[in-house]
Amino acid sequence: ANAPVNITVTGAAGNIGYALLFRIASGALLGPEQRVNLRLLEIPQAVKAAEGTAMELFDSAFSTLGSVDIFDDPKQAFEGANIAFLVGSMPRKAGMERSDLLSANGGIFGPQGEALGAGAADDIKVLVVGNPANTNALIAASHAGDIPASRFTAMTRLDHNRALAQLAAKAGCHVSEIDKVTIWGNHSTTQYPDLTHATIKGEPITDILADRAWVEDDFIPTVAKRGAAIIEARGASSAASAASAAIDHVRDWCLGTTSAWTSAAVMSDGSYGVPEGVISSFPCTAENGEWKIVQGLEIDDFSRAKIDASAAELAEEKNAVAAMGLI
Ligand code: NAD
Ligand code: LMR
Repeated sequence: ANAPVNITVTGAAGNIGYALLFRIASGALLGPEQRVNLRLLEIPQAVKAAEGTAMELFDSAFSTLGSVDIFDDPKQAFEGANIAFLVGSMPRKAGMERSDLLSANGGIFGPQGEALGAGAADDIKVLVVGNPANTNALIAASHAGDIPASRFTAMTRLDHNRALAQLAAKAGCHVSEIDKVTIWGNHSTTQYPDLTHATIKGEPITDILADRAWVEDDFIPTVAKRGAAIIEARGASSAASAASAAIDHVRDWCLGTTSAWTSAAVMSDGSYGVPEGVISSFPCTAENGEWKIVQGLEIDDFSRAKIDASAAELAEEKNAVAAMGLI
């Protein structure tokens, strides 16, 4: 059998953590043959709650679970990590300015990036889920020493899955029959869910794309604002669907994508005019443990403006954290 894979999850006692840990431990991430060791990182006040979750993991007697360890020190939690899910973050509270949020998260993701650089395994793969995910990932990457920036990614897979679900409902097809949907840009309301290249059973969706009212006034805002709609309905932000998307992202990264492409926020190399050095969502494939941005897609004027607007927001966030000395 393969050696166990060490997986660190931050914010382990939170809502997403509660859904995510059981999926990882049950083999949904790396398959039924791969044993995983879980390393949970929490703030000291939440360690007791994390211990409760660890008791439930123990009680589940998963055949794929090796060990569970709990830490309140990032240096220890990331020691030997092969995969890190950075879920814990400072959520926006009433009366908080965006700059307060960015600086509070700088205090979390800077030290976590450093701890990853100091102790993670050579093949470390990092997914940032905690918001603002793209810029938190950038902060972590910029503190991580020798770890290549390509190992730091942010989650737009939930937005991608939401787009598939909306299109399937519109077309009356199954989500599994859809391919070539893209989320571009930031995990925020400026994101651009792009159906231009989408196919259903391999065929272009010409009639659906011709319905501009549906695409522009229904589909795009529904996907971009779905996070807020879930908060409104549940009284808490999406948790199980976010955990499920995190599993999809890291499973594809480790084992390879099985569709034409998916969406992942990765370090921009300037592709499609997105400024170099921001972590932006692109159409991506994964092979041999590396994400690659799909090249050569035609971008029409409508898409151009939407991609540029979200890229501009990412550049602004980058400038803001740079001005605060966080990157
Ligand atoms: P939650 O408040 O239930 O849990 C967050 C946990 O993080 C808490 O247990 C808290 O103690 C812990 N935490 C805080 N600071 C920490 C630190 N420095 N180190 C370790 N742990 C720390 O929140 P949740 O519902 O699990 O959501 C977590 C984050 O994910 C939020 O920022 C949320 O906005 C974000 N989110 C992102 C997406 C996405 O698609 N990218 C989707 C849903 C939610
Ligand atoms: C989501 O997309 O569900 C979350 O990012 C929303 C949020 O603000 O937590």
